[in-house]
Amino acid sequence: MARSRYGSGWPLNRRDFLKTTVAGGAALMLPLGFGARTAHGGESPALDHFIDPLPIPRIFNPSPDGSYVIATQQLQHELHSHIGPMTTVWGYGDSEGAAFPGPTFEVRSGTLTRVRWQNQLAIDPGASHFLEIDPSVLGAVHGAEDNRKMVVHLHGGHITQAADGYPEDTLLPGQEAVYDYLIDQDAATLWYHDHALGNTRLNVYMGLAGFFLVRDDFEDNLIATGQLPDKAHEIPLVLQDRRLNKVGGLAYDSQFDDSFFGDVMVVNGKAWPYMQVEPRQYRFRVLNGSNSRSYTLQLGADMLPFKIIGTDQGLLPAPLTVSSVTLTPGERADLIIDFGAGGLASGDDITLLNTHPSRHGEKVDETPIRDIMQFRIFGSASDEVILPDELRPITRLDTAEAVTERNFKLEDKYDPRVDDSEWFINDMHWHEITDVVQNGTVEIWNWVNKSEMVHPMHIHLVKFQVVGRYRLTENRKGKLVPGANLGLDPHETGWKDTVRVGPHEFVQVIARFAGRATGLSEELFPFHCHILEHEDHEMMRQFRLVYD
Ligand code: C2O
Ligand code: CU
Ligand code: CU
Repeated sequence: MARSRYGSGWPLNRRDFLKTTVAGGAALMLPLGFGARTAHGGESPALDHFIDPLPIPRIFNPSPDGSYVIATQQLQHELHSHIGPMTTVWGYGDSEGAAFPGPTFEVRSGTLTRVRWQNQLAIDPGASHFLEIDPSVLGAVHGAEDNRKMVVHLHGGHITQAADGYPEDTLLPGQEAVYDYLIDQDAATLWYHDHALGNTRLNVYMGLAGFFLVRDDFEDNLIATGQLPDKAHEIPLVLQDRRLNKVGGLAYDSQFDDSFFGDVMVVNGKAWPYMQVEPRQYRFRVLNGSNSRSYTLQLGADMLPFKIIGTDQGLLPAPLTVSSVTLTPGERADLIIDFGAGGLASGDDITLLNTHPSRHGEKVDETPIRDIMQFRIFGSASDEVILPDELRPITRLDTAEAVTERNFKLEDKYDPRVDDSEWFINDMHWHEITDVVQNGTVEIWNWVNKSEMVHPMHIHLVKFQVVGRYRLTENRKGKLVPGANLGLDPHETGWKDTVRVGPHEFVQVIARFAGRATGLSEELFPFHCHILEHEDHEMMRQFRLVYD
């Protein structure tokens, strides 16, 4: 589904192209838009695995009044020590500097976090973006063609529209906005990332994402009483795949394709890192922050067991022992790995592997990634953490309480607007708002996937429970209905904000749509596929939340 109408097909962005020609001496500059059609095809330079230690993003320091001033910036970053600090990325930062991924917010539930977000994406004068914009994407070209627009979304936050990072709350370079996050939710691994209409895939690919950890007394108590590892042994891991050009720059096709698969595994901003661990229990908050790639994680070829203690929106009712976990883009899993169990000892290495199938419907990922990162066990320190049998109780929402049941058909369709096919939700575009939800009510949303591709479906504002996953079938009247029960993964039994909807699946979720606004009669919130290439297609819509 690569688009031919507008794409120039030139594989490198202008800046990297210049670098290449300067280095190589051959100065053949093809005008953009008339380049020979060379799909990226090529592979990133070969990089040795497990050379660099895993970086841990630093925690943002609030100013004395508890607020933050955070700006997006362009910076040079070292993805791998064999490349050096020459990859241009975008990051979020404060007075201590910007980074990819962005530093981590650590906030307490029950408090106000005020962030002054600034766009300082000052790149080459005249350049409209570091990567090439595809102008056929709805919303991609902003006003006077300044496409360095941004907006920051707090993924998983129970917040107002004003602070949500509504995709059209555009901030151009030099502009800023103050967002108030009045956090009232349970401890959880949230994340913040760019959400600019039409360019989300490019902005997040450039590096605009980071963790936002919500802490609360309940979880602190588990840590204080030795039922969860302490913060020193609690590691966030964001998984992102990237593709590089010959000179180590980020590569992304200018021509819009409906998926992106990189061949370089980047964890916390480093390609195939390693981490030295003690033979004890660690807690890993894993985020799939990739554009399109899903991961099925396992420990070594032997599939060492590990535990899942939490999901998108916080702790599970009880730790669950598993041998793998699948995360589609946007999903999180909170894991406990015991490097002192299962016969592991100092001197052993264990690799975190991805065994997700490389076929995605009709799409074949030609550069499957197997190695994620390596753990090297060292030393003799053990721990006294004893995971409890019960973590945090979850009250199941009662389907009988639902006032409405909505069906959302996930499908690609011919769109005359671009003379090509695009991914849609119920065949409608972003600006077509047909779903009106009464504040405070419980609703059932059915994701009806008629396609061959997985779609991780995310709803802003709410946390939901997955009621069930079924094979999509057609009844005698031709109606699409749930068929055989396919069951849920262990981590899908907790509170979620993003759910995997596999090919030809019918996935039912239930949520209470309780807004946070005061004095407003309504708010708008997006819901979308978290494959960022689909989101920038038309697979993002919005619901109107009405207060009475
Ligand atoms: Cu993480 Cu609207 O998305
Ligand atoms: Cu979100
Ligand atoms: Cu999708």
